[in-house]
Amino acid sequence: MFRTHTCGQLTAKDIDQTVTLSGWVDTRRDHGGIIFVDLRDRYGLTQIVFDPEVSESAHGGGEKIRPEWVISVTGKVQARREGMTNDKMDTGEIELFVDEIKVLSEAQTPPFELDKDDVREDLRLEYRYLDLRRERMQKNLQLRHNIVKIVRDYFDGRDFWDIETPILVKGTPEGSREYLVPSRLHAGSFYVLPQSPQQLKQLLMVGGIDKYFQVPRCFRDEDLRGDRQPEFTQFEVEMSFVEQDDVMDNVEMCFHELMEKLGQDREWKKFLVDEKFKRITWQEAMEKYGSDKPDLRFDLEFVDVSEEAKTSGFGIFEKSDRVFALPAPKAHGELSRKDIDALTDLARENGAGGLAWYRVGDESGPVAKNSTPEFLEALKTKTSSEDGDLIFFGAGDFLTAVEPLGAVRSALGDKFELKNQKEFCYLWVYDFPMYEAKEDGSVQAAHHPFTHPKVEDIPLLDTDPMAVRAYAYDVVMNGVELGGGSIRIHDQKLQHKIFQGLGLNEEEIQKKFGHMLKAFSYGCPPHGGCAMGLDRVVMLFADEPNIREVIAFPKNQSAQDLMLGSPSAMPEKEVAEQNIRVIEE
Ligand code: AMO
Repeated sequence: MFRTHTCGQLTAKDIDQTVTLSGWVDTRRDHGGIIFVDLRDRYGLTQIVFDPEVSESAHGGGEKIRPEWVISVTGKVQARREGMTNDKMDTGEIELFVDEIKVLSEAQTPPFELDKDDVREDLRLEYRYLDLRRERMQKNLQLRHNIVKIVRDYFDGRDFWDIETPILVKGTPEGSREYLVPSRLHAGSFYVLPQSPQQLKQLLMVGGIDKYFQVPRCFRDEDLRGDRQPEFTQFEVEMSFVEQDDVMDNVEMCFHELMEKLGQDREWKKFLVDEKFKRITWQEAMEKYGSDKPDLRFDLEFVDVSEEAKTSGFGIFEKSDRVFALPAPKAHGELSRKDIDALTDLARENGAGGLAWYRVGDESGPVAKNSTPEFLEALKTKTSSEDGDLIFFGAGDFLTAVEPLGAVRSALGDKFELKNQKEFCYLWVYDFPMYEAKEDGSVQAAHHPFTHPKVEDIPLLDTDPMAVRAYAYDVVMNGVELGGGSIRIHDQKLQHKIFQGLGLNEEEIQKKFGHMLKAFSYGCPPHGGCAMGLDRVVMLFADEPNIREVIAFPKNQSAQDLMLGSPSAMPEKEVAEQNIRVIEE
């Protein structure tokens, strides 16, 4: 038998019992004659003692062992001597005097100290199995397990069926580049790894499943950031005969459940209106916060000064479609010239030509020098500013005016320390635009092409497609997009029209989406759904800075698995079998 108890289990109740424990040597202290070892497993630490007076041979074994060796020990549980107890450890009242030791596995000296925090991430990822032994990672993985369990139970309790969908599929457009898998049997053809099970869950609705959920793995070959991985996990739903609010309410209650069960130490209820998450339109989110995932833990709202700007005397503002002001009151903190320069760089990185600013009451600076006194007065009043307060501006077409200013707002939230880590501030952003412009000028679906346009906006599809709003919604928390969904098109003709709006010709429509149109022609229920990024949800609950900390085996920022060494070159024969030829650079 390897163990009678775990390393986190023994207490004063077990004194005088003979037990067997197995685990890793955490620390080893040789007190000239007596050796103390902390033995570790997932459940905790137990102090074990090698005393030559108890067992000469066990003590001999204790002399040989080193950190990270895996051992099994048998002996008697004893009360720790007075003054030697440790309240911080569950097992702090007792210690185990070893009669017998078995070495189950020796270990090399680890490449980093497991109890140190400042270890290079690449090293942690290369030796992830060692990294996983650390308390932080074990806590995160346990939390992840708990979250998945709560989510599964939640949907199971509401009649959703957990149905697996295939991984080898056909292109699923969600806006990213796709991972391709060559087909050995069908030369020149490829499977695609799903960016999400989007089409399949819709086809399940056509199949009469009515309520579906899954915790699927998704794959997207996109530029990586702290909250993005090439493969990640969603928890997601699809429902038939529902309207937007039905889906949102369902998902929202799932977050309530998570908060009730896991968020006890978080401040969150104050952000709920009538026990519901705040819901704002995309337009309002952009106009007030310059972001479709605004962090509402702090206020700092934009003020629309487009009208006043038309006669401001300040050339750039007069020429701009829209001008927004972002007040940065000195009550929140002072900003130095260096701070303003850094914010200007940030605005530029986010698409602005620069960052105009005005210190209320101060005559210097380009805005003050070139604007009419009336405009300056209007700014002060409209933004409720006081002398000495700063105001930043965003100007241009709508998105150019608000988006860079949104980045400035978020940076001010950091600078002024307005982002309370304990607060969980959820909201829904809805009424997203149907289409968005890509950098090359072409148009793509803002959510995905199966999203239903708002009924009242359908006539605009022919006249002003960029103004069409969709039944699309995102759930956001603390500036992070946790999830998104939409009501889907279930009408074959409308779906066809949306594909056309994306610039697809008949042949492309049939080739890419013929199967969806065909399915819709056999009786399709109105349906909608939503998908949450599980990794992001766990990241926020765990208060971790990125999703790699909550994934057992993540890729690094260059999409590599440093532990397995993937991606890697494959033997020529295997590659050839896939009907693929590698082009040497
Ligand atoms: P969407 O593309 O918005 O919607 O994705 C849903 C959620 O998945 C998470 N997510 C990611 N997490 C980690 N790494 C990534 N690369 C990554 N990409 C997305 C985000 C995001 O909000 N099929 C639709 C859902 C639907 O309409 O039902 C979809 O996938 O948290």
